[in-house]
Amino acid sequence: MKCRVCDANLSHTFLNLGHQPPSNSLLTREKLSQPEVTFPLVAMVCDNCRLVQVPESKSANEIFDKEYVYFSSGSRAWLDHSSAFAKMAKERFKLNKNSKVVEIASNDGYLLKNFVEMQVPCLGIEPASGPARTAKINGIPTLTEFFNSQLASKLSIESGKADLIIGNNVLAHVPGLNDFVQGMKYLLKPQGTITMEFPHLCRLVDGNQFDTIYQEHFSYFSLTSVSTVFNNQGLRIFDVEVLPTHGGSLRIYANHSEDIRATLSSVTSLLEREATIGIKTDAYYDNFRVKAEKARSEFLLFLLSERRASKTVVALGAAAKGNTFLNFCGVHPDLVSRVSDNTPFKIGKFLPGSHIPVCSEDTVFKDVVDYALILPWNHRDEIIQKFRDKAKRHNTRFVTAIPNLQVYSPPDFTPKNLSYLVKPIYQ
Ligand code: TMP
Ligand code: ZN
Repeated sequence: MKCRVCDANLSHTFLNLGHQPPSNSLLTREKLSQPEVTFPLVAMVCDNCRLVQVPESKSANEIFDKEYVYFSSGSRAWLDHSSAFAKMAKERFKLNKNSKVVEIASNDGYLLKNFVEMQVPCLGIEPASGPARTAKINGIPTLTEFFNSQLASKLSIESGKADLIIGNNVLAHVPGLNDFVQGMKYLLKPQGTITMEFPHLCRLVDGNQFDTIYQEHFSYFSLTSVSTVFNNQGLRIFDVEVLPTHGGSLRIYANHSEDIRATLSSVTSLLEREATIGIKTDAYYDNFRVKAEKARSEFLLFLLSERRASKTVVALGAAAKGNTFLNFCGVHPDLVSRVSDNTPFKIGKFLPGSHIPVCSEDTVFKDVVDYALILPWNHRDEIIQKFRDKAKRHNTRFVTAIPNLQVYSPPDFTPKNLSYLVKPIYQ
């Protein structure tokens, strides 16, 4: 196995999560009676450029196909975040009706609709046909294609280069990273700007977010490793913001290396901070497994003790990260009976691996629920808010399992650390 950025041999394991099915490949009832394909889910770290990466076992073409069910518009908080970004970008980069904005992985148009409303010409590029179709229906110009250097050259010749290229939560999904970033270089106007958001590796490590590792996520970036990728293609990161979204993300701003805009101190100081915590040393990546195993033991002890006390546990949010977590823990419907989701395409299907049935948010509280496990902990506050009244009526406690087990009891739902690890299971 070779590093997808620098071609060095990969020999250093960051975390081995065993064999798992692809996290977003939900199953229909018919598929439940057929064999299910699993792939090794092993995150490696490159000793040379320090990119944390999952080797491509299922190709991107197979993952982002017509079955792909992730719709970005599912979260109100994410929609608000995106609309605030669009307004800021219009202002900061002086975008108007003569500008051109391209968003790579534009999904269902959750972000570009803001540029359409502000009358800034835009184009979305989205390979997953379901979300792309929704965007087109809503009047957002969208190409149902994978972005790469070939498409970028074609677009820049046929329809011109972009003032702003946006890519939110896409960089991790790209197997051919160098070619992808080269494509952005081709498509960017000489004074244009690229902005990209992605989860920050340092938050993954600090926050024990091992569940965000899954086959769709090929790479996990620090500012240090992403800077190498951009610099190698003649692009320079000139600003960076630390965001709370998705458990802690970075938003990088890049331009052509020769652009006159200076590199801001936000970049140099974050690079220094990463160096100080040891991002270029082996020690930083070692022993992450211990943290992940602790979260698993705690969660399983919780499930088994509550099961023994005849309590019922359901889950809220059929997020991809939930599948990594449930499959790493080896949980099935006998311990978590159902999971709700607000994505219509997921309802009626079954989670890959665990085979937990997905129901609507209206029906998840249909009978007694003692515990409701929030799988997408990044949407915790929004989900607690949504189910607060129902939980009060049913005396249901919310639970999150990452970074460690927390239980939120009515009436105030403030989190408490219940350490099942110190309690014997059989008393
Ligand atoms: P994400 O963590 O990758 O954004 O995935 C979140 C999943 O949770 C997605 O399937 C939508 C679902 N969800 C709900 O079911 N209800 C909600 O209120 C929110 C915010 C998300
Ligand atoms: Zn490398």
